[in-house]
Amino acid sequence: MKVSVLVVLLLVSVALADRVFIESNEPRVVPKGWRVSASQVISQSQEEEQRQIIFLLKQRNVDVVEKMFWEVSDPNSPKYGEHLTLEQLAELVSPSEETINTVQNFLASYGIVDTKTVVTKDFLYATVPVRILKEMFAINFKLYEHSSGAQFYASMGPYSLPEEVAKCVDFVSFLLGVPDVESPSTASERQSKTRSTDITPDVIRARYNCSNVVATSSKNSHAVAEFQGQSYSPSDLSDFFSKYVTNSNDDTVDQVIGSNNPDKPGIEASLDIQYLMGVAPNVTTWFYGMKQFNFYEDLTNWLGELNNETDAPWVHSVSYGSQGNYPTQTYMTRSDTEYQKLGLRGLSIIYASGDSGAECSRRCSILYPSYPATSTYVTAIGATRFLSGNSGAEGSVLAFKSGGGFSTWNAVPSYQASATAAYLDQNIEFPPPDTFNSSNRANPDFGALGAEHFQVVVDGKTTAVGGTSASAPTFAAIVTMLNDLRLSSGKSTLGFLNTLFYQIAENTPGAFFDVVDGNNKNGCPGNACGTNYIDGYLCAPGWDPVTGYGTPNYGVLATAV
Ligand SMILES: *[C@@H]1O[C@H](CO)[C@@H](O)[C@H](O)[C@H]1NC(C)=O
Ligand SMILES: *[C@@H]1O[C@H](CO)[C@@H](O)[C@H](O)[C@H]1NC(C)=O
Ligand SMILES: *[C@@H]1O[C@H](CO)[C@@H](O)[C@H](O)[C@H]1NC(C)=O
Ligand SMILES: *[C@@H]1O[C@H](CO)[C@@H](O)[C@H](O)[C@H]1NC(C)=O
Repeated sequence: MKVSVLVVLLLVSVALADRVFIESNEPRVVPKGWRVSASQVISQSQEEEQRQIIFLLKQRNVDVVEKMFWEVSDPNSPKYGEHLTLEQLAELVSPSEETINTVQNFLASYGIVDTKTVVTKDFLYATVPVRILKEMFAINFKLYEHSSGAQFYASMGPYSLPEEVAKCVDFVSFLLGVPDVESPSTASERQSKTRSTDITPDVIRARYNCSNVVATSSKNSHAVAEFQGQSYSPSDLSDFFSKYVTNSNDDTVDQVIGSNNPDKPGIEASLDIQYLMGVAPNVTTWFYGMKQFNFYEDLTNWLGELNNETDAPWVHSVSYGSQGNYPTQTYMTRSDTEYQKLGLRGLSIIYASGDSGAECSRRCSILYPSYPATSTYVTAIGATRFLSGNSGAEGSVLAFKSGGGFSTWNAVPSYQASATAAYLDQNIEFPPPDTFNSSNRANPDFGALGAEHFQVVVDGKTTAVGGTSASAPTFAAIVTMLNDLRLSSGKSTLGFLNTLFYQIAENTPGAFFDVVDGNNKNGCPGNACGTNYIDGYLCAPGWDPVTGYGTPNYGVLATAV
């Protein structure tokens, strides 16, 4: 009798515990194309459906991570290049026992005992039926329907946790929202009709001054990360190598992480893997296929995966992002720590800056660069074209507008302050001052060819495509070849690039080909803002928010790294 009274009292105290909203106390916006189903009938099996969620646990020493990140990335620091192994990083950041136990006990109180973690212990994976998610996070689920017919039983939040659990969690991924519905790759919209100016690995290598360079370090490695169900085909890759890669036949991906469907190759994944491997062949290559849910949740899963790989590749090319449609500030702040952790390990994270110019948010009042490209702790790459033919000087792309501009939320980092100040000091036209925050971080950092003439083999056929999607793997390949020089002489990898590369751009003439011709004005496809669109930025000598400091000259960079 006494025992049961005690149990009742305990339940009451749990039920009455103060709950704290995580991320936001506002529900998520229902994405375009989705609406609550008119005829929603929820079945027992939908209630029992198992969902894998990720708790991003509060880490220790977040401030130390940031300090060490800057030290190992600053070429003027005695600690430059003293990267940590994943195990060393785990010792620094892994959550306290108390944090881990609180969340695990909370899960166990609902009968969830099978959890998975990563080496750094700050991503906790649990599989939970929807019925229990409702109680755990005090959320409702509804049946949502997509215009394509797809249905998903989803919650839009907001979500909360009991105060003592909330204290242990930055945020929870894969809990709210609806899945991305597969849509054709945006790159396909930019297919070229003319073939007169084909861009191939040989053309890129000639322009970027690395025609005779072959990577030779067995320690070298690089990767592409793919989202939204993009896959590559090994036989396309092999065709591509026989057609376009004259200096190597090493056409095999060494490891696929996540999913890849070789029978359904996509333009984006094919472009990324063919140009990363084609421009820098003979290097260990991984392919991450992170399609599970939607882009931002899958991106979190990718970061979790990297925290479970002691031998994660050194260079990562990511041709994804979103202009204007940002995740929560909590998500971006935690992700910044994650990018610092990767830099601290000596990994280089390279993002495409987006293909919609300076503005494409449909808000039409303020300029929005692409996230994650706008993060301070990644390297963002804009797109260029040849001014004529397929060699010589470059301008910013014309067929679409390269993404770039000043962030709406993060202050300018010290590595970039003089670059943006010099740009803002030029006697040129700028967008209206109230449409961008000139004291903030701006992207891209650098540029690379991205015009719509990249020859890509997809499903046995060669097509010509472009985008900053082409620029990111191209730039990443040059970084891989620079890493090769350092690894071959027993040095560390380059890790976070911007600190060193901005210094090189400022001090070593010719290390980057300056791009002074072009702009990223009015880049919204379909002109969503009508006549109210805000003009973007102009290219200018030195750094600019269209192509950064310009495109890489490997031959000169090789003498400076
Ligand atoms: C991390 O790797 C370990 C060892 O391979 C594995 O047991 C664990 O399930 C992995 N964690 C996740 C979240 O996949
Ligand atoms: C390819 O790289 C390996 C090390 O991974 C090296 O031994 C070999 O010489 C390289 N091949 C060429 C053609 O340079
Ligand atoms: C500009 O961004 C900074 C953050 O870096 C913020 O503190 C400031 O309020 C912003 N200024 C305007 C006018 O929005
Ligand atoms: C290419 O790199 C070499 C150094 O390897 C340098 O001497 C040469 O000037 C560079 N070419 C161009 C066009 O910048």
